[in-house]
Amino acid sequence: MNAISQLRVLAIAGSLRKESYNKRALLLAANIARESGASVTIAENELLQLPLFNEDTLGEQIPNSVLQLKENIQWADALFIATPEYNHSIPGVLKNALDWASIQTNPFNGKIGAIFGASIGINGSLRAQLHLRQILTALGVHVIEQPQVFIRNAAHAFTPEGLLVDKQDEQLLTQLIEKTLNITELLKKGLQ
Ligand code: FNR
Repeated sequence: MNAISQLRVLAIAGSLRKESYNKRALLLAANIARESGASVTIAENELLQLPLFNEDTLGEQIPNSVLQLKENIQWADALFIATPEYNHSIPGVLKNALDWASIQTNPFNGKIGAIFGASIGINGSLRAQLHLRQILTALGVHVIEQPQVFIRNAAHAFTPEGLLVDKQDEQLLTQLIEKTLNITELLKKGLQ
């Protein structure tokens, strides 16, 4: 067992859709990380299905669903987030989850983040990723700068087996995941 096998990754897709292209991309990223020996938890839809955040309720007990999300984030050394693009930004369901999880204690602080995404347009969720990068930076996540992975024309980007058609996309995603794990491992070693 090598050191990377100790790494824990929480993988989140910003889409609840059953046939989501971002879920497909996330699964590919998870497989790459698992091949490197990392332990990857893929967030099920339930983890993002939270009440709408309302600051008025902050004096009340935090819902169990939110506590569970916060625990999953806390558990992880690194986060993978695959985001769709909705109206040039991230989907509300993802923003709602990020806002809820940041309440009271911030489990994101100091984590390493790999973001990528797929959209049916020609930008491959580029604008959503810019917003996601900004939000995660506000939460204290060290978001890997390069390579950036924009899966364009997503309806035609995957083979029936769920692989990426474009070999360059596949290469970039692999590079992003390997770099994320390497940096996470270095940081973890430095903290021991
Ligand atoms: C979209 N879509 C979209 N695509 C894009 O490239 N740029 C955009 O701004 C938007 N805006 C947008 C808004 C809303 C409300 C919806 C429902 C969709 C299309 C989007 O890329 C497509 O639905 C993807 O399939 C969503 O990702 P998943 O669910 O497949 O992961």
